[in-house]
Amino acid sequence: MPSPPPISSKVQSTRWSTCRRRNRQLVVDIFSIDSLTDGHIAAILDRADLHLAANRESRRSTTLRDKIVFNLFYENSTRTLMSFATAAHRLGASVVTLPVGQSSVKKGETLADTARTLGAMRPDAIVIRHPETGAPSRVAELVDAPVLNAGDGTNEHPTQALLDAATLRAHFGRVDGLTVAICGDIRHSRVAHSNALLLPRLGANVRLAGPLELMPDELSARPTVDDAIAGADVVMMLRVQRERLDRDLGDGPGEYLSRYGLTAERLRRAAPNAVVMHPGPMNRGIEIEDSVADDQQRSLITRQVEYGVAVRMACLELAAGAID
Ligand code: NCD
Repeated sequence: MPSPPPISSKVQSTRWSTCRRRNRQLVVDIFSIDSLTDGHIAAILDRADLHLAANRESRRSTTLRDKIVFNLFYENSTRTLMSFATAAHRLGASVVTLPVGQSSVKKGETLADTARTLGAMRPDAIVIRHPETGAPSRVAELVDAPVLNAGDGTNEHPTQALLDAATLRAHFGRVDGLTVAICGDIRHSRVAHSNALLLPRLGANVRLAGPLELMPDELSARPTVDDAIAGADVVMMLRVQRERLDRDLGDGPGEYLSRYGLTAERLRRAAPNAVVMHPGPMNRGIEIEDSVADDQQRSLITRQVEYGVAVRMACLELAAGAID
């Protein structure tokens, strides 16, 4: 099965160069996979390997010493929020997190006004998660600091795709030539969208599959989950994003798992040494069976989280001009 084309015109519309020169320093915004050059991607992956090794030995880096990173999360997060904050701390930076739920956003302040306000405090980088496509680039137009996209609605989640690629590269020694089945709620998954752009750039063959009502309209290839998993080296499962659905799927208890979820039985269709990934949060018993999620031989889920910190360290360094 060939790799699919970019699955959303929204994704393509974010293709622009994002190097800006501010205060005589070159900063790099990370809005989307297409906003990164091949050189950026290679630098991030290589640097992440070094950071991962250093983190395991509790060795600190000081490349962002005295810098201030702002975290702005307009949507819920555990992994990405903590991971960016940990990454910044491990580089010697300070993190200031805006408690969006208790902020002036609740008094009706616009994103643009919040951006101008925070920009005036002169942070060295801004990490933003927001429900609207393109919010990171709108903020970047109003601030000097580089902006990193921690997920914009259903559009993109570039640092998640980068950490997925880093995890695969560490496990298999390569991404080139791997067949990756991404299964579940493709329509609403910014993780799937960014991976569908990044992994083929690194030479992987990506298959996207899920319930028909959760597949993007513009995708013509719609294999079943069973067909997508057949012979795959990697099975990446996605959560059904019920909070983004107009109407409920109407599935009965156990129905989603038996029709579309990753059970131990379904995983037997994959390549003999296939691995399992999930960006989290997992809905156990829905898109993934407990025994698969907890299979120490097959599951790379905790490794993904560990690489998340290392990759975000590299992304912060790139954005803030500490590496090129
Ligand atoms: C995902 C997200 O928020 O896009 N999680 C993550 O960042 N690791 C996926 C999800 O919410 O299901």
